[in-house]
Amino acid sequence: MTLVVTGGAGYVGSVCARHLLDAGNDVVVVDDLTTGHRDAVPDGARLVVGDVADVADEVLGAGDVDGVVHCAARSLVGESTEQPAKYWHGNVVTTIALLDALRRHHVPRLVFSSTAATYGEPETSPITEDAPTRPTNTYGATKLAIDHAIGNYAAASAGGLGAVSLRYFNVAGAHTGTTGVPALGERHAVETHLIPLVLQVALGQREEIAVFGDDWPTPDGTCVRDYIHVDDLAEAHLLALDLLARGEAPDGGHLVCNLGNGTGFSVLEVIEACRRVTGHPIPARVAPRRAGDPGVLVASSARARDQLGWKPSHTDLDGIVADAWAFARSR
Ligand code: UFG
Repeated sequence: MTLVVTGGAGYVGSVCARHLLDAGNDVVVVDDLTTGHRDAVPDGARLVVGDVADVADEVLGAGDVDGVVHCAARSLVGESTEQPAKYWHGNVVTTIALLDALRRHHVPRLVFSSTAATYGEPETSPITEDAPTRPTNTYGATKLAIDHAIGNYAAASAGGLGAVSLRYFNVAGAHTGTTGVPALGERHAVETHLIPLVLQVALGQREEIAVFGDDWPTPDGTCVRDYIHVDDLAEAHLLALDLLARGEAPDGGHLVCNLGNGTGFSVLEVIEACRRVTGHPIPARVAPRRAGDPGVLVASSARARDQLGWKPSHTDLDGIVADAWAFARSR
């Protein structure tokens, strides 16, 4: 297949592009390189530099594109609340432009990077896809709006567009290629994610890690999250494209699937895992809760398993951290 990966110079997008290439597809990466890195675009992919809305017609009109994996997004939760316009334009307006271009050029398949942030503070755990969606930040609200738009476009296309929204939980780890050295991993100019921040302490790049709250209603009082290895996440995108190629999208043409390991780890458990893997004492200090953080976010992966045939293979937290650590040390 010929597939377009938007945001393919970013963390998740580059790993998805790598997996798609390894499976024998032709891949075109679209990325404006504002947060992505040119050298993260996997060998073998063609890079088109530009905003998705600006280049969609050029890329999709050029030939027989079989599908789009749409990862390009603004994705900083804190920033989204401070600068909502950047998120409503950058995420929602851009994706509507992409959806219009998909329709104009009769592209039949779309896989979208959605997020657990669409659910907000859950009432039950693990979270299933029919749980209430009440995002607590602008980032989650924009991704939820896009999920709705995709559902509407797919339903109105009379079978012309099939789509899968994958709601990622906490993506972590790094892509380990055939060399065994992780080549693609997380490197954000502004890092806000727990595992890379903790590893920065082990690398001597920061003094300590702040633990955002120890008074949550969890066993050790710190927030619990569901960490999923980026290679497992990428595989789900391939399975989603397979399902769409088989014409097995549900009625209405849009499937929403959570992607997580189904197991929660607390902030303190993550820090302990980082200590084991790095051998560094990693000083930690309790800090106030971070605004908008839910206490517990754990995915039910039942639907991904049943509908996509997806099963994560990297369920061991130390293994996920070890890949992230190997990548961090290689930079
Ligand atoms: N945390 C700390 N200290 C830090 C950084 C994070 O204690 O310095 C805690 C957070 O409070 C949270 C956990 O570590 O409890 C994980 O935080 P991350 O920032 O790594 O990830 P989030 O759970 O906040 O965010 C992830 C994705 C988002 C997505 C969200 C769903 O990165 O894209 O899950 O709520 F929106």
